[in-house]
Amino acid sequence: MPHFDVAIVGAGAAGLFCAAQAGQRGLKVLLLDHASRVAEKIRISGGGRCNFTNRHLDIRTGHQHYLGQNPQFARSALSRFTPQDFIALVQRNGIAFHEKHKGQLFADHSAQDIIAMLLDACDRTGVQRWQPCTIDRIDHIDTGNTAQGAGRYRLHTAKGIVQAHSLVVATGGLSIPKIGATDFGYRIAKQFGLPIVALRPGLVPLRFAGDDWAPYAGLAGVALPVRIATGEKKQAMAFEEDLLFTHRGLSGPAILQISSYWQPGQSLRIDLLPQLDVAAALQKAKATTRKLLPNVLAQWLPGRLADAWCQRQSAWQGPVNQCSDKALAQLAQSLSGWQLTPSGTEGYAKAEVTVGGVDTQALSQQSMEAKGKPGLFFIGEVVDITGWLGGFNFQWAWASAHACAQAL
Ligand code: FDA
Repeated sequence: MPHFDVAIVGAGAAGLFCAAQAGQRGLKVLLLDHASRVAEKIRISGGGRCNFTNRHLDIRTGHQHYLGQNPQFARSALSRFTPQDFIALVQRNGIAFHEKHKGQLFADHSAQDIIAMLLDACDRTGVQRWQPCTIDRIDHIDTGNTAQGAGRYRLHTAKGIVQAHSLVVATGGLSIPKIGATDFGYRIAKQFGLPIVALRPGLVPLRFAGDDWAPYAGLAGVALPVRIATGEKKQAMAFEEDLLFTHRGLSGPAILQISSYWQPGQSLRIDLLPQLDVAAALQKAKATTRKLLPNVLAQWLPGRLADAWCQRQSAWQGPVNQCSDKALAQLAQSLSGWQLTPSGTEGYAKAEVTVGGVDTQALSQQSMEAKGKPGLFFIGEVVDITGWLGGFNFQWAWASAHACAQAL
């Protein structure tokens, strides 16, 4: 029966990076993935250009860009493998990149360059990759002999039975099942008695239903910068990003960011004109022009949205100079404090990440090893650490993989 120092399940971002680093340390590594194509999420990420990290991640406060029951857990790994470390790697490999928005770094050419870099590192360090290869079962063997070379985990795979001293679970979350996402990692965690923090889709478009949504149903494609918030005052989360109307609801970076914090039943508060004192601007318009209100709003908002907004009340359709102060005040209030309650999310089929996962209380923040389960590690998205949009999820994948690889 073949024996490896480490078997890594999942050849995505975290699994590939961990395999290459473990290989570099001289370990005999087996990397397994059931999907036929390697690292599909890297390939489709960042619109095909992979937003591979974020320069604005501050290692002292970095956990602020992460959610989970204990986001502080991420700090140890993030501080030992920083965005700068990954940037240096990308530069050493001659991959050109650029910054887009708020510290987000993308490959100039293609996400494929990042995948090729990781595969090359695996090849150079002798990592064996079995892909596609399903894993039917994993057993823990209590040999009583934990000396180097004694297998502690036995994997029953489509290519035969193998033993490994350590097992790294890097199977990611539930998002986008059609490219290979499964609940395998959570099942392995349960098998070994580790708790799971409830799972839900994150970085996901939101849906709206019923009469409340009818006025906006025809606005698909309209986009604008907004301020968006959810949650009770003290724990409210807010983002300033772009909002996008879709056929079924709302999307764009503002919605994706807030969706990770949104809980069913909660409302969203959206300021459609965060940079403008709308009440004052409308009063000024009343004093200086006879334009119809939709045309006044169209100076600040996309025209289709301005029209749809004014359709909501007959008092908002006439010339601005004939509008009552009360109607203008109500209009200003509606624009800066739009309240609406999503009916749900677009689910794992459209979510970029899974919020929740293997409870960090059961893991070592130094090594990602399961407490009381020698040689069993969980890295990347399968862990209850979820990043904001903007390269933070890949940075967590690299950093947690690095922490694990140093401890193997
Ligand atoms: P990942 O999902 O990368 O890898 C898991 C691997 O495990 C897969 O190869 C899968 O096939 C394998 N696997 C699953 N079940 C298995 C089983 N039963 N047996 C064997 N293998 C199994 N993040 C970011 O920072 N910047 C970005 O630009 C984007 N963009 C983006 C776009 C889209 C459309 C999505 C869906 C996601 C993103 N993300 C992102 C999120 C990012 O892709 C994600 O957080 C990381 O890929 C997580 O890395 P992991 O290695 O943990 O899982």
